[in-house]
Amino acid sequence: MSAQIACLAEDVAVATALRVELHAADGALVEVAVVRDEAGDLHAISDVCSHGQVSLSDGEIEGCTVECWLHGSRFDLRTGKPLSPPAVRAVPVYPVTVDGERVLVDVDAQL
Ligand code: FES
Repeated sequence: MSAQIACLAEDVAVATALRVELHAADGALVEVAVVRDEAGDLHAISDVCSHGQVSLSDGEIEGCTVECWLHGSRFDLRTGKPLSPPAVRAVPVYPVTVDGERVLVDVDAQL
């Protein structure tokens, strides 16, 4: 499956995240956080923290990072890599394209 509509651009304000559920080509459900960073750029990362299986879209956006609300690990929105403990594993990051008002995410093509 290729890129699919995740939301509308206007649905994601600066420094906020929106949780969406998409389906991979194999039918698996993929929980995605569509995030607009403080510079206004959109990102799509796994919504599931690699440390404790909680929703990253409930975290705080700062710069180009999101902070997990449970234990405070901060993840780079461009790479998915944790920048602070306790998380040590990256979360998947997916390609995002904006087509007019539509935000498209390809959950089968991790960056
Ligand atoms: S659950 Fe996210 S850092 Fe622990």
